[in-house]
Amino acid sequence: MTAPLRVGLLGVGTVGQGVLRVLARNRQEIERRAGRPVVVTHAAARDADKPRDCDLSAVRFSTDAQAVVEADCDVVVELIGGIEPARRLVLDALARGRAVVCANKALIAQHGNEIFAAARKAGALFGFEAAVAGGIPIIKVLREGLAANRIDQVTGIINGTSNYILTQMAARGQAFAEALAEAQRLGYAEADPRFDVEGIDAAHKLAILAAIAFGMPLRFDAVATEGISGVAPQDIQLARELGYRIKPLALAKRIARAPEAAVELRVHPTLVPAEHLLAKTDGALNAVRVHGDAVGQTVYVGRGAGAEATASAVIADLIDVARWQGADPRHHVPALGFHPQALQHPRVASLDEIESAYYLRLRVADTPGVLRAITSILAELEISVEAILQKEPREHEDATLAIITSVVNERRCDQARSKMQSLPFVREPVTRLRVEHFDV
Ligand SMILES: NC(=O)c1ccc[n+]([C@@H]2O[C@H](COP(=O)([O-])OP(=O)(O)OC[C@H]3O[C@@H](n4cnc5c(N)ncnc54)[C@H](OP(=O)(O)O)[C@@H]3O)[C@@H](O)[C@H]2O)c1
Repeated sequence: MTAPLRVGLLGVGTVGQGVLRVLARNRQEIERRAGRPVVVTHAAARDADKPRDCDLSAVRFSTDAQAVVEADCDVVVELIGGIEPARRLVLDALARGRAVVCANKALIAQHGNEIFAAARKAGALFGFEAAVAGGIPIIKVLREGLAANRIDQVTGIINGTSNYILTQMAARGQAFAEALAEAQRLGYAEADPRFDVEGIDAAHKLAILAAIAFGMPLRFDAVATEGISGVAPQDIQLARELGYRIKPLALAKRIARAPEAAVELRVHPTLVPAEHLLAKTDGALNAVRVHGDAVGQTVYVGRGAGAEATASAVIADLIDVARWQGADPRHHVPALGFHPQALQHPRVASLDEIESAYYLRLRVADTPGVLRAITSILAELEISVEAILQKEPREHEDATLAIITSVVNERRCDQARSKMQSLPFVREPVTRLRVEHFDV
């Protein structure tokens, strides 16, 4: 029999247990694909007494992760999370020439450039399919399946918690805080939900996707991030009446109009046309849309998290390791799909340079001339109105206006917004959300 691929597992939490279960359940199918058995020989977690939903009887268990890195394994799987000690353990494993598989998007987004260089130096494979969109094999899609294309856009719902919260707000008319509390009760959101609802987790994943789509270093520091806590139930309702859904979108775009190579990297709640697949991706599901010059639009939908969906991606990387072991590292697929010396360094545009359509919501006094004053501000700044919705007030109440603009520069849209704000009959800060339309 061919020697098994010996796996050292760091972390036996949600994903680690999923990996052990799926490896046990699909042992034969995985061996038929890998050409050899894939066996977890060593594992580490903090608590030796914690009950775990997987069979560890044939595994050497330790509470010392470093001992697993030093053990006689072919590949180390990092499923601890966070930056340290994960970073140190990953770099140590690579320096020892071990392949590493990692689901840790925070680590890769912030230290990936260093980790990829260490893997190259060691001639070791570093797999990170599980770090973005869980079970959706989007890394392979971008790096291999769509390798013929000049990719100009990657747009996705890549944080399931935010998507779940906005879906609940839409379905039940709940306020953000109420939907978040329910998501926490049901285990969809962490006790500290900031990473998810403030867009940081999505920004980690977007930095990774952009690097692979455009062949650039990881630029997590340059991702503009806006969370979903400012979305009101009223915006969800008005967007619906205008033919849109509000989704937590991450967008990476090449800017064709810029004189030099430039990209946009941003995460924010966005109005998307109701008929698009992204608008229909509800609950905790993820979806990623990729637009390439040859293939056009492709969309991938699936579970972005969860024990076995994420294990699916981890194990696919382990099978790659089994196939590649012993092969000349020059024949490995480069970590970002582009050869390291061919990476480019596009400028990341600031938000006031971007162009987008916008949704504006205003609460206004119910007096004559309001609509004329507002549309003339837009006309003065050469912003066309694509759609407008006026909600008639009940007696003695204010009216609501919702406007969808044409595609304009963000700075210009904000000028219009502040002019509107200074009108005496505009009651509250004007809400502004971005709107995205998609080519097919
Ligand atoms: N959960 C998902 O759906 C999902 C999806 C995609 C990516 N990811 C990523 O996958 C990674 C793991 O996530 P998870 O949800 O499985 O986390 P988790 O449930 O919190 O599990 C973490 C595991 O690491 C162990 N651990 C923590 N610190 C350790 C240390 N210093 N030494 C040894 N073991 C240590 C913990 O031990 P104890 O069990 O003893 O506490 C636990 O077994 C993270 O990077 C996460 O971002 C998760």
